[in-house]
Amino acid sequence: MNIGVFDSGFGGIDILRHIVKKLPQYNYIYLGDNARTPYGSRSKATLYKYTTEAVDFLFAHNCPLIIIACNTASAEALPKIQRVHLPKYHPHGKILGVVVPAVETAAAITAHKRVGVIATEGSVASGAFVREFRKINSEIKVFQEACPLLVPIVESGENDKKILQRALRNYLKPLVEEKIDTLILGCTHYSILEEDIRTALKYLRGNGIHIVNEGDIVADKLETYLKKHPEITKILKTQSKRVFYTTDVTDRFRRLGSIFFGNAIKPRKAHLS
Ligand code: DGL
Repeated sequence: MNIGVFDSGFGGIDILRHIVKKLPQYNYIYLGDNARTPYGSRSKATLYKYTTEAVDFLFAHNCPLIIIACNTASAEALPKIQRVHLPKYHPHGKILGVVVPAVETAAAITAHKRVGVIATEGSVASGAFVREFRKINSEIKVFQEACPLLVPIVESGENDKKILQRALRNYLKPLVEEKIDTLILGCTHYSILEEDIRTALKYLRGNGIHIVNEGDIVADKLETYLKKHPEITKILKTQSKRVFYTTDVTDRFRRLGSIFFGNAIKPRKAHLS
C-alpha cells in the first residue's frame, strides 16, 4: 500500500519532495494532471470532476491515503469529495488537503492577527482560506491576492529575475500595505519561489513577515497523522518506492519534474476518466 499525492501538474512534486525528505521509508505514487492543468481558473464543477477522477485513480492504485497537494483542488473540490464521494465510493479511503494545515499554522503564528494569502484565482475566489480562518479564530483578518502570472512563470522555467520580481512586488505590495505579519504561500508552485518572495518582501519593507511554506507543513502534518492512525500506518509498505504518473508524458514533465523533485524522475502515463 502506498501514499498517493495528487496535483494539477508539476507543483505538487515539490510538496512530495518535502514529504519524502521527512518520511523516506514509505512508497509514494504521484499523479499530475498535466494534460488539463492549470486548475487555477477552472469552474467548481470541472474541478470536482477532475479531482474525483484523480482520487479514484490513486485509490485504484493501492493508495489508502491521498494528499491533495493542489490548493485549488483542496479549496474547491475536497470538501464535497469528503462529504459525497468518499462515503459512497471509498468509505475507508482517507484524503488530506493543504489548505487546512496552512491555515492552522498561520493562525498559530500571527501575532497581530493579520494574515496574507497568495494563491491562484480559483483558490482566492473559493473563499476556502477565509472560511478556514473563521473556523479557527474569527478575529484574524485575511487579505488575499490572486497571482495568475506566477504559475506560468514557474512552469515556463523562466529565469529572468527582473520579470519575476516585478510580478511579485506588484502582488505583494497591497498585502504589505495592509500590515500583514504572516504570509501563506497558498499554491504548490510558490514554495519554489520562497527566496524570491523574501527578496520582494524585503524591497517592500516587509522583511519581518513570516512565510508559511506548505511543503514543510504538509510533511509535518502527515507525520502527525500517521502517528495518530496506526491502522493506516501498519498497512503502508516501506520500500521507499516512488512512482510518477502524469496525464501527459512529455520531456517537459521529465525535466521540470526532476527539478521540482530534486532527483531524476521517469513518468508513466495515467488515464483518467
Ligand atoms: N496546483 C495549483 C494550486 O496549488 C496551481 C497550478 C494550477 O493552477 O493548476 O493551486
